[in-house]
Order: sequence, then C-alpha cells, then structure tokens
Amino acid sequence: VVDQSLKFSRRVPKEPLFRWDDFPLVCPAQSVPRPLKDCNIYYFQQARYALFHGLRLLGIRPGEEVLVPAFHCSTLIESVLRTGVEIKFYNVKPTLLIDLEDLRQRVGGRTTAVVIVHFFGVVQPMERIRGLCAEYGLYLVEDCAHVLRGHCGTQELGSYGDISVFSWRKFFPITNGGALAMPRNLPGKTPEQNKCSLFQEFHEFIWGVRQCLHPWASWMRGRMSEKVQTDIQWEFIEGLRRSNPDEDFCPKIALMKESRFSLNYLRKCQLEQICHLRNRNWQFLTAAFAEVDLFPTSWGEVWRQAVAWAFPILIPGYDNFHIELRKRGIPAFTWGGVIHHTLDLRAFPDAELLYSHLVMLPIHQDLTLEELHYMVESIYSILDRRGVRKGRR
Ligand SMILES: Cc1ncc(COP(=O)(O)O)c(C=O)c1O
Repeated sequence: VVDQSLKFSRRVPKEPLFRWDDFPLVCPAQSVPRPLKDCNIYYFQQARYALFHGLRLLGIRPGEEVLVPAFHCSTLIESVLRTGVEIKFYNVKPTLLIDLEDLRQRVGGRTTAVVIVHFFGVVQPMERIRGLCAEYGLYLVEDCAHVLRGHCGTQELGSYGDISVFSWRKFFPITNGGALAMPRNLPGKTPEQNKCSLFQEFHEFIWGVRQCLHPWASWMRGRMSEKVQTDIQWEFIEGLRRSNPDEDFCPKIALMKESRFSLNYLRKCQLEQICHLRNRNWQFLTAAFAEVDLFPTSWGEVWRQAVAWAFPILIPGYDNFHIELRKRGIPAFTWGGVIHHTLDLRAFPDAELLYSHLVMLPIHQDLTLEELHYMVESIYSILDRRGVRKGRR
C-alpha cells in the first residue's frame, strides 16, 4: 500500500546519489573492477569515446563501412562516424533482438565491422552473431553500455567482441566513466589518451559535495514550498526528434582518461550489492506487470543473464507515455529524442515503433520498494484511466 502523500509530491530519483561514504579521499587498495579478465582495458570519460578509439585501433579506414543498429542512441552512431567510416543501418526487432537476416543482407563489399548492442540488458545471440561475422570476415564490436555485467551461455558479455565498450556512468553516481576492452590483444596498439586535468578533478570533488548535500537541500526545499519540490526539470520532449551531432561528440573530451575521482569511486563501490539491488528491482517490476502485456515474456528473465541499466516496457498505441510518468515525478525516458539525423525512419518501421513506444523505467540501486510501488501504481492508473488494461498474450 502506497502512502497517498507520496503521490504528485515526490520524485523518484533519476540516478543513484553520491554519498559521504563514497568520497574517495583515501585511495583504496582494491583495483578498479575490470569488466573482463585477460584483456586490455582503457578507461575513458564516456563509452562513446571508448568506441571511437576502439574502432580506430581495429584499423577500420575511411571509406569502409560499419553496420549499426537502426534503433540507437545517436551518440553511438556519431562516434562511429567521427572515425571517418561510412555506416549502414540494420533492423532491430520489437523484442530488442537484432534482426540477423536483415543484418546478413546488408553486408556488402566494403563492410568491415558490425556494432551490436545488448539493449537495456536484453542479451543478443552472441554465438550466432559471431558465426556471421566469421563467415564474412567482419570485426565484431560489442556495445555493453547497457549492462553492468552479464553473460551469454558460459561466456561473459564483452568477451565476444573484437572490442567491447562499457559505460560506468550509467550505473554509478559518477559524472564520467567508460571503458574499452580488447579481449583479443592488438599487439603494440594503445589508444592516445590524456590525463584528466586537475581542474576537472576539483570540479568533480565539488560535484560530490553538492550531491552529498542534495538530500538535505531537497528536504529544505520541501519544507519551504511543496510547489518547488514538484517542479520537475526533466525535459518533456514529445514525439520524435533528431539529435545534434555536436552535442553527441566532443573531440576535446575524446582523448581524456576517466577522472581519478571516478576511478577511485569504482575502487570503493559495493559492486555485488549494487548488482543485487538492480536485479531485485528488475524482478520486482517483472512481477508487478505480470498481468499486463507490457513486454515480451523473455524480458522477465533478463536479470538471470545481465545486470541492466533500465527496465523497458513497450506500450504501442500510447503516445508520449513517458511524459505522463514524468508529470508524476517518475524519470521515465524514451529514445525518441536521440535519433541520429542520418537515419531514414520510413525504412525501419520496427525502429520507429521502438522510438515511439519503448519507455524505460529506472531500476537503479537507490530506489526504495516504496518508490518501485509508486511507479507501478502510476503506470496502472494511467492504463486504467485510458480504459485499457490489456491482458497478457
Ligand atoms: C548503446 C549505447 N552505446 C553507447 C552509448 C554512449 O554511452 P556514454 O554516454 O557513456 O558515452 C550509449 C548512450 O546512451 C548507448 O545507449
């Protein structure tokens, strides 16, 4: 039973908060968690830059072609394009699995690599994809930005690709952090990297202090005025929108290593506990939506294979569902605002469906059960108000 006063008067936090305990004042002896063993790992400010450097290290040259998913966050596409290569899109099915047949048909004479993504924790059939890449002599680039860790069969996610990338800042309360892993060593090749400046380190420190003060500040704001507390600042983007390439990729940041502040956070964090809580939240939402048809049954099992970034629900027929949730203080989002400008949506109806109707809910480690209940209740109340509570197929 949800406390009624919660409704419309509080936000569900969008991301986990940085706390006093997390302050990496004393550098712990523990090493940074490595996404994979037995491979070279390079830490960057964001996954997009890790991907950019990874493609360059593979030696893919301008004029060659890389296959990329039609359903994407534009930052991925922009970082591929910035290496000078050409791109060709392939289809992603509404189940979030890539369309292998479509992918096969799009391989051409100039194709040298395929980028695949484990969308929101939905693990792709890696053996089959690797088989296809071997058949055509293509590099496999595994984008693990949406998984904290996971496996496919007995093998770890990220270990299938010739290179793979991870995005730590999606999972932890840090402002920067992404990794490039090269499971198959490329002898003598290392990415060009600069140390993060002292100014940025200082900036991160101040950011940390502000995060620690945040709960106190929101409590104060709540005391002063209910209205301020309900003033939700997230963007309310309706419909579909193209991204701005200059915002997606900043050449200056591309060369910068992850900050020491963030790396030290990673050394300190309670990784096992975080994985446990995220998986608990995933299972909670799966169970709560068992009686409605909001996702393919297979997504219910995702937590067994991967620790995911966010929980996707598919709501065809309802436009701007995420905005209704945002009005209730729930930081749901879609990818409707991050479509790369080179994509012709008319050629990819499945991607258009996903951009319009796939809504992501937070499942981060700081969510309380009360907040999870509130999200579920809000979703049911919107569905009921629209007069439809669809049954499971
Ligand atoms: C699939 C995928 N790859 C890469 C990225 C880039 O991650 P980052 O923001 O860490 O650069 C994103 C961003 O959301 C993404 O969704």
